[in-house]
Amino acid sequence: MILKTLAAAAAFACTLWLPAAAAVDNDAAVKLNKESGCTKCHSVDKAKKGPAYQKTAAKYKGKADGEAKLVDLLTKSPKVKMEDGSEEEHKAVATKDAAQVKNLAQWILAQ
Ligand code: HEC
Repeated sequence: MILKTLAAAAAFACTLWLPAAAAVDNDAAVKLNKESGCTKCHSVDKAKKGPAYQKTAAKYKGKADGEAKLVDLLTKSPKVKMEDGSEEEHKAVATKDAAQVKNLAQWILAQ
Protein backbone atom coordinates (compact mmCIF):
# COMPACT_ATOMS: atom_id res chain seq x y z
CA MET A 1 0.00 0.00 0.00
CA ILE A 2 2.73 2.44 1.03
CA LEU A 3 4.83 1.26 -1.89
CA LYS A 4 1.96 1.86 -4.27
CA THR A 5 1.55 5.39 -2.96
CA LEU A 6 5.26 5.98 -3.30
CA ALA A 7 5.25 4.71 -6.86
CA ALA A 8 2.36 6.98 -7.71
CA ALA A 9 4.13 9.92 -6.10
CA ALA A 10 7.31 9.14 -8.02
CA ALA A 11 5.40 8.92 -11.31
CA PHE A 12 3.71 12.21 -10.55
CA ALA A 13 7.04 13.83 -9.70
CA CYS A 14 8.41 12.65 -13.05
CA THR A 15 5.62 14.24 -15.04
CA LEU A 16 6.28 17.49 -13.18
CA TRP A 17 10.00 17.22 -13.67
CA LEU A 18 10.04 16.46 -17.39
CA PRO A 19 8.81 19.82 -18.71
CA ALA A 20 11.13 21.55 -16.26
CA ALA A 21 14.09 19.72 -17.78
CA ALA A 22 13.20 21.14 -21.19
CA ALA A 23 12.77 24.64 -19.81
CA VAL A 24 14.87 27.65 -20.58
CA ASP A 25 18.37 27.93 -19.14
CA ASN A 26 17.83 31.29 -17.48
CA ASP A 27 21.45 31.95 -16.51
CA ALA A 28 22.80 31.14 -19.98
CA ALA A 29 20.23 33.41 -21.62
CA VAL A 30 20.93 36.34 -19.29
CA LYS A 31 24.67 35.91 -19.84
CA LEU A 32 24.40 35.75 -23.64
CA ASN A 33 22.02 38.70 -23.65
CA LYS A 34 24.59 40.73 -21.71
CA GLU A 35 27.65 39.54 -23.61
CA SER A 36 26.00 40.30 -26.94
CA GLY A 37 25.34 43.90 -25.90
CA CYS A 38 21.56 43.47 -26.11
CA THR A 39 21.13 45.23 -22.77
CA LYS A 40 22.26 48.46 -24.43
CA CYS A 41 18.94 48.63 -26.27
CA HIS A 42 16.65 46.22 -24.44
CA SER A 43 15.51 45.62 -20.92
CA VAL A 44 12.97 43.10 -19.75
CA ASP A 45 10.31 45.58 -18.72
CA LYS A 46 11.23 49.02 -20.11
CA ALA A 47 11.53 50.33 -23.65
CA LYS A 48 15.03 51.59 -24.48
CA LYS A 49 16.22 52.01 -28.07
CA GLY A 50 14.41 48.77 -28.73
CA PRO A 51 11.19 47.35 -27.23
CA ALA A 52 11.03 45.72 -23.78
CA TYR A 53 11.25 41.93 -23.92
CA GLN A 54 7.91 41.75 -22.12
CA LYS A 55 6.34 43.58 -25.04
CA THR A 56 7.95 41.19 -27.51
CA ALA A 57 6.81 38.19 -25.46
CA ALA A 58 3.24 39.53 -25.45
CA LYS A 59 3.39 40.15 -29.20
CA TYR A 60 4.40 36.56 -29.99
CA LYS A 61 2.41 34.84 -27.28
CA GLY A 62 0.66 31.78 -28.67
CA LYS A 63 2.23 32.22 -32.12
CA ALA A 64 3.85 29.06 -33.39
CA ASP A 65 6.48 30.93 -35.39
CA GLY A 66 7.50 33.34 -32.62
CA GLU A 67 10.68 31.50 -31.74
CA ALA A 68 11.74 31.13 -35.39
CA LYS A 69 11.13 34.85 -35.98
CA LEU A 70 13.35 35.80 -33.06
CA VAL A 71 16.08 33.36 -34.12
CA ASP A 72 16.03 34.97 -37.59
CA LEU A 73 16.24 38.44 -36.09
CA LEU A 74 19.14 37.42 -33.87
CA THR A 75 21.17 35.67 -36.55
CA LYS A 76 20.42 37.46 -39.82
CA SER A 77 20.77 41.11 -38.73
CA PRO A 78 17.82 42.58 -40.64
CA LYS A 79 17.40 46.38 -40.79
CA VAL A 80 15.26 47.66 -37.92
CA LYS A 81 13.90 51.06 -37.01
CA MET A 82 15.35 52.67 -33.89
CA GLU A 83 13.15 54.68 -31.53
CA ASP A 84 14.42 57.89 -33.17
CA GLY A 85 13.32 56.70 -36.62
CA SER A 86 16.78 55.95 -38.01
CA GLU A 87 17.47 52.52 -39.51
CA GLU A 88 20.24 50.21 -38.40
CA GLU A 89 21.10 46.56 -38.88
CA HIS A 90 19.88 44.70 -35.84
CA LYS A 91 22.69 43.34 -33.73
CA ALA A 92 23.30 39.58 -33.97
CA VAL A 93 24.00 37.42 -30.93
CA ALA A 94 27.61 36.79 -29.98
CA THR A 95 27.46 33.05 -30.60
CA LYS A 96 27.14 30.63 -33.50
CA ASP A 97 25.71 27.95 -31.24
CA ALA A 98 22.16 27.38 -32.49
CA ALA A 99 21.07 25.86 -29.18
CA GLN A 100 22.20 28.99 -27.33
CA VAL A 101 20.38 31.29 -29.76
CA LYS A 102 17.24 29.18 -29.40
CA ASN A 103 17.56 29.31 -25.63
CA LEU A 104 17.83 33.10 -25.71
CA ALA A 105 14.79 33.35 -28.01
CA GLN A 106 12.79 31.14 -25.64
CA TRP A 107 13.93 33.20 -22.66
CA ILE A 108 12.76 36.43 -24.31
CA LEU A 109 9.41 34.83 -25.13
CA ALA A 110 9.06 33.74 -21.49
CA GLN A 111 9.29 37.33 -20.14
C1 HEC B 1 21.40 49.35 -31.19
C2 HEC B 1 20.26 48.92 -30.42
C3 HEC B 1 19.92 47.44 -30.38
C4 HEC B 1 20.71 46.41 -29.96
C5 HEC B 1 22.15 46.44 -29.51
C6 HEC B 1 19.87 45.22 -29.98
N1 HEC B 1 18.61 45.53 -30.41
FE1 HEC B 1 17.03 44.31 -30.49
N2 HEC B 1 15.92 45.75 -31.35
C7 HEC B 1 16.31 47.07 -31.49
C8 HEC B 1 15.21 47.83 -32.10
C9 HEC B 1 15.23 49.31 -32.41
C10 HEC B 1 14.16 46.92 -32.30
C11 HEC B 1 12.79 47.23 -32.86
C12 HEC B 1 12.61 46.70 -34.24
C13 HEC B 1 11.26 46.98 -34.78
O1 HEC B 1 10.34 47.33 -34.03
O2 HEC B 1 11.12 46.84 -35.97
C14 HEC B 1 14.62 45.63 -31.80
C15 HEC B 1 13.87 44.50 -31.79
C16 HEC B 1 14.19 43.37 -31.06
C17 HEC B 1 13.27 42.32 -30.73
C18 HEC B 1 11.79 42.31 -31.07
C19 HEC B 1 11.50 41.80 -32.45
C20 HEC B 1 10.05 41.83 -32.75
O3 HEC B 1 9.70 41.28 -33.79
O4 HEC B 1 9.23 42.38 -31.98
C21 HEC B 1 13.98 41.40 -30.01
C22 HEC B 1 13.45 40.11 -29.44
C23 HEC B 1 15.32 41.88 -29.89
N3 HEC B 1 15.42 43.08 -30.54
C24 HEC B 1 16.33 41.22 -29.24
C25 HEC B 1 17.64 41.65 -29.18
C26 HEC B 1 18.74 40.86 -28.68
C27 HEC B 1 18.62 39.49 -28.10
C28 HEC B 1 19.87 41.62 -28.84
C29 HEC B 1 21.30 41.23 -28.57
C30 HEC B 1 21.85 40.22 -29.47
C31 HEC B 1 19.46 42.89 -29.39
N4 HEC B 1 18.11 42.86 -29.61
C32 HEC B 1 20.30 43.96 -29.62
C33 HEC B 1 17.50 47.61 -31.12
C34 HEC B 1 18.59 46.89 -30.67
